[in-house]
Amino acid sequence: MKILTICGSPRKKGNTGKVLNMFNDEISDGHEIEHINLIDFDVKGCIGCMKCQEDSEEPGCVQNDDANSIFGKMMDADAVVYASPLYCWSFTAQMKPLIDRHFCMCFGYGTPEYKSFLEGKKVALLVTCGGPIEENTEFIQGIFDNLSGFMNMNNAGKYLLPSCTEPEAIGEEGKTLAAAMAKAITS
Ligand SMILES: Cc1cc2nc3c(=O)[nH]c(=O)nc-3n(C[C@H](O)[C@H](O)[C@H](O)COP(=O)(O)O)c2cc1C
Repeated sequence: MKILTICGSPRKKGNTGKVLNMFNDEISDGHEIEHINLIDFDVKGCIGCMKCQEDSEEPGCVQNDDANSIFGKMMDADAVVYASPLYCWSFTAQMKPLIDRHFCMCFGYGTPEYKSFLEGKKVALLVTCGGPIEENTEFIQGIFDNLSGFMNMNNAGKYLLPSCTEPEAIGEEGKTLAAAMAKAITS
């Protein structure tokens, strides 16, 4: 199985990166993992031009940045992990434009011709945050559920690590979470 992990943290070696490393350790041989940090890529905001809705056979965006190559990696992968620290109850500014740009990976929204070029893709959400899960992570979870539903993707679950301080302090709880996500992704 090919697994793509997309990290939206501006801190490559931060809490989210640490849990993603733990996730890597939990993935057994025979699976292939590609990891990208969005901070290394140029993904601009959607400009709402709707050009992506003109050709039902051709996914992708007219903007000449890295979004199309990231979507290409997603199409190639069997599973995708969206990983982000919680920033003001939501995704980071690195992840949000990529989420908006998913619009170019579907066609004919609201019509009987609707189709998603990411149909059936197994996806999971990983979030690390400083505060609790309750009354803090509802929005990010809702956005992910809506995105996976909108894109007809196969939602393998949401994995949330509360009370994060620094990567060095992440121990067994992170490992247990990473193991659960690895199991859900590969089963
Ligand atoms: C700008 C900013 C906004 C944040 N907003 C929240 C928040 O709304 N809720 C929360 O629990 N933690 C919040 N945090 C804490 C981070 O989510 C937490 O430290 C996270 O684990 C950082 O992950 P990283 O090290 O991978 O970047 C925020 C941190 C920053 C820098």
